[in-house]
Amino acid sequence: MFRTRRLRKTEGIRRLVRETKLSVDDFIYPLFIEEGKNIKTGITSMPGIHRYSLDRISEELDEVVALNIPAVLLFGIPTHKDEEGTETWNDNGIMQNAVRFIKKNYPNLYVITDVCFCEYTSHGHCGIIHNNDVDNDATLVNLAKQVISHAKAGVDMVAPSGMMDGTINMIRQSLDNSGFPNLPIMGYSVKYASAFYGPFRDAADSAPTFGDRRTYQMDPSNRDEGLREATFDDEEGADILMVKPALSYLDIIRDLKNNFDRPIACYNVSGEYAMVKAAAEKGWIDGERVMMESLLSMKRAGADIIITYFAKEAARILNKR
Ligand code: PBG
Repeated sequence: MFRTRRLRKTEGIRRLVRETKLSVDDFIYPLFIEEGKNIKTGITSMPGIHRYSLDRISEELDEVVALNIPAVLLFGIPTHKDEEGTETWNDNGIMQNAVRFIKKNYPNLYVITDVCFCEYTSHGHCGIIHNNDVDNDATLVNLAKQVISHAKAGVDMVAPSGMMDGTINMIRQSLDNSGFPNLPIMGYSVKYASAFYGPFRDAADSAPTFGDRRTYQMDPSNRDEGLREATFDDEEGADILMVKPALSYLDIIRDLKNNFDRPIACYNVSGEYAMVKAAAEKGWIDGERVMMESLLSMKRAGADIIITYFAKEAARILNKR
């Protein structure tokens, strides 16, 4: 008889035959940084996650570094919003100041910036609006300005999340032509128009004031198109390809892993975090175990890198093992 249970008998043998192992090295921790002073505001739908002003961000960063988490992904929340999101390329903007502050005080922490407009535009869309829709090519011009401004501030990697066509090409060329040929790009390559972003839009003040993002983010029904999107980013020179969200898109993560020889990242988004937290609070699930199992499933699906609000909690568990 085939007896698969022989290799499950004790923790010793289970450890030996374990195929997938999570590590703190896999994690990127997202941070919301708000312009202003003495801010530490909890986000109701994301227990444990806060918006910080720069003068208080060390509370968070000290912990991240102590837990040995290698990287953070920054989201800026500015006080000034306008039609184009001009604040995104202000060399003294919240994002640029945050990058300078973190690189100065935590030089070994790897700093990635989310490159987008939705937190910076009065209408909440990810670019310039013409005729009630985001104008792709006009937005690319501003994207280049934003990215160069982040680069000058000293960021380690940029991650454009706006889903405009030609983004990677535009950013790569601008960086190369401005003296930043060694700055890597992580593409939000396969990003779906997802209801799982709900809590984030409260956290980052970035919900669109009209319409939705379905003319630029992908239709959740489409799998082949995911490969197409990733192919463009790959050919345009993205250094890392990302799938977002993660849990409902594990098939897409595996597709990318099987088809591209680049590191694959996934974004375990706000709604995925909120669901686990809410059910755990009610006592309906064991939150810690569900968290670890979900993160493991992303890695097993093929993610080399996981962007997650659980990074600190998971790191605490992994560091004890
Ligand atoms: C866009 C952006 C979003 C997220 C990351 N970057 C929101 C959106 O596309 O509406 C979502 C992250 C999350 O839900 O955790 N700048």
